[in-house]
Amino acid sequence: MNITISRKDGDPLSFDANADEKVLYAALRNRISVPYECASGTCGSCRAKLVSGELNDCWADAPGKKALKIRRGEFLMCQCEAQTDCEIRIPSPVAVQPHNKLPHSIPQSIPGSVSAFNQLTADVLSFSVTLERETGFQAGQFMLLQLPGVEGARAYSMVNYSEKTRQLDFVIKQIKDGKCSEWLFNSPKEGAKISVFGPLGHAVFEPQLERDLLLLAGGSGIAGMMAMLAQADQIGYLNTYNIELIFGVRSADDVFYLPDLKRLAQRYPDNLYVTIALSEVDNQSDVVELIESVSAVSKNFKIASSGFVHEHIEVSRTSINTMAFIAGPPPMVDASIRELLT
Ligand code: FES
Repeated sequence: MNITISRKDGDPLSFDANADEKVLYAALRNRISVPYECASGTCGSCRAKLVSGELNDCWADAPGKKALKIRRGEFLMCQCEAQTDCEIRIPSPVAVQPHNKLPHSIPQSIPGSVSAFNQLTADVLSFSVTLERETGFQAGQFMLLQLPGVEGARAYSMVNYSEKTRQLDFVIKQIKDGKCSEWLFNSPKEGAKISVFGPLGHAVFEPQLERDLLLLAGGSGIAGMMAMLAQADQIGYLNTYNIELIFGVRSADDVFYLPDLKRLAQRYPDNLYVTIALSEVDNQSDVVELIESVSAVSKNFKIASSGFVHEHIEVSRTSINTMAFIAGPPPMVDASIRELLT
């Protein structure tokens, strides 16, 4: 199938798409930088208009369709597959990525297998995917995982960082009735074949910007931030710039990645600030134990036994040179944005 994007600001752009391939993924695979955010049907930022041709809409009730003018032919590129040659329009400027972009970081489908399942807390699981060929990604990016027998793909941020790798590490929180979560928690099969598409996402660590970082994470939202910390560690970024991580979970039992955070905090006692914010403490003795376990590590490693992530932002440590990243449950993200804007 051939898809043509007609543009106000330039010549039309054409690219090929397979019949079972979402328009968004085909465009990105062809180095065309169309707009998107979630790549999974929830945000609505991949809105486009069908001028001619036929599409198959794979998710009729996608939340991202709320603001679309369906009668005018608007559709989500991340949810529709071309059934014939199509002409489409996109409301924002579209460009072709330069050829010098590293080929392994162009989004593509890669088969892989899952392994290394590790239950980190009662409802948080880590696992790895070994890919059949190398990929590259920026810290903070995510992949779409297609699991066997699960309809649709789900987005997960990589926890590890490497410029080029065949191994991707992920962390997932168990979600009631979540199909992916059910598969991974209840029937994980060491070595099971899956497929990933990516890398995707624009919220990435760019060391060349030379900024201090403020990382605000709720639960498994810490994934991409662990990748940023890993990269910062690899390139010695923390010898020059400050990074502050505020990591919110419910109770002491819900804390994960503690050994990794302790190791980093010990290595960069002056430039890495870590606060673990516990929002629902019902056993004070667990908290005391946790506080004792981090107090010897670094003066800048704290356990807060009450309050949400946004309540622990230390305004005196932020400046015009601070770049903030936020990930977690929507109420936590909204409260953090409001706090930062204020
Ligand atoms: Fe978010 Fe398509 S990119 S709905």
